[in-house]
Amino acid sequence: MSLPWTILVTGGAGFIGSHTCVELLDYGYEVVVVDNHANSSPEALARVQKVAGRPLAAVYTIDVRDRAALTEVFERHPVDAVIHFAAHKAVGESVELPIDYYDNNVGGTTALLAVMNAHGVHRLVFSSSCSLYGNAERIPITEQSPAAPTNPYASTKWMCEQVLTDVCRHRPDLQAFSLRYFNPVGAHPSALLGEDPLGIPSNVMPYLAQVAIGRREKISVFGDDWPTHDGTGVRDYIHVMDVAEGHRIALEHLDEVRGVRALNLATGVGTSVLELVAAFRRASGRPIPYEITARRPGDVARLIADPGEIERAWGWRATRTLDQMCGDVWRFQLDNPVGYQA
Ligand code: UD1
Repeated sequence: MSLPWTILVTGGAGFIGSHTCVELLDYGYEVVVVDNHANSSPEALARVQKVAGRPLAAVYTIDVRDRAALTEVFERHPVDAVIHFAAHKAVGESVELPIDYYDNNVGGTTALLAVMNAHGVHRLVFSSSCSLYGNAERIPITEQSPAAPTNPYASTKWMCEQVLTDVCRHRPDLQAFSLRYFNPVGAHPSALLGEDPLGIPSNVMPYLAQVAIGRREKISVFGDDWPTHDGTGVRDYIHVMDVAEGHRIALEHLDEVRGVRALNLATGVGTSVLELVAAFRRASGRPIPYEITARRPGDVARLIADPGEIERAWGWRATRTLDQMCGDVWRFQLDNPVGYQA
């Protein structure tokens, strides 16, 4: 295979996609992006190129389900590997719009696999989620923990993994990692790239940032009666730069995989909502008013990974701390008070 590799990144303008594009450009890859901007801004891609100091090879505003358009992309570029981020990802919305979620997330993946197959492209890194473990009985969660999705979003991710497993039986040359992210947060240290949710944030970190800057009055802490050390929900937060780095390292190890291999992408460190509020207060130096409210339907007490398998496989692990995550989010929030709209 000729170097540098050309990587097709679907959903490259999204939160994790954009940070991964910077990482790939920094390491000399040629990067082709496809994104339909269903939940992302083209401005993110302008910033990717500014941060990296070099251009993306091409950007296509298309939907991955549009096989004709996707085929043209594969005909124009010598794609060596694909990183597939493009998907809907809001748990609550997926309960309201399950058909959209299956159509977009599963349909997008099968369309992509068909076009990859037609062009002899056999390397894939798939964006999966810890949500497929559902309400895991055993903590920390290993890759061997059973899948038990509790909402349509999580089901689509599990279904895509099953599709990949079956496709591998039929097409043994396929080499894929399915990276099961825990809770990605943070921003690029340049403060040019970060998470820019549309409307009211449903995830805790962007909400905290908007409270700190004064855009929202206070954060609701969803329950203080969970069976955790301080009664609030515990999650395994991972810096988006570690997630981006993980994708680059995955590419380097793809040729060692036979079939599809699922790996947790996490730190193994659990942080409660109240600990996160305190960390964000430290990072921002601002008061963070909060109020304890009822539990959010569908939430679970604790989700913490065992990140050991990825370390054994690649000799790599996520290293960035909670303070770095909060500090980078805060700097992005300060420099971009209304996100990419500015
Ligand atoms: C969920 C999904 C995850 C998905 C992520 C991003 C599950 C189990 N997890 O993560 O797969 O990648 O969304 O879309 O489905 N909280 C508050 N107040 C808030 C917001 C959240 O107290 O305003 C609490 C929650 O109760 C939870 C923690 O903060 O304990 C994290 O919540 P959130 O950021 O929404 O992520 P998850 O629900 O863990």
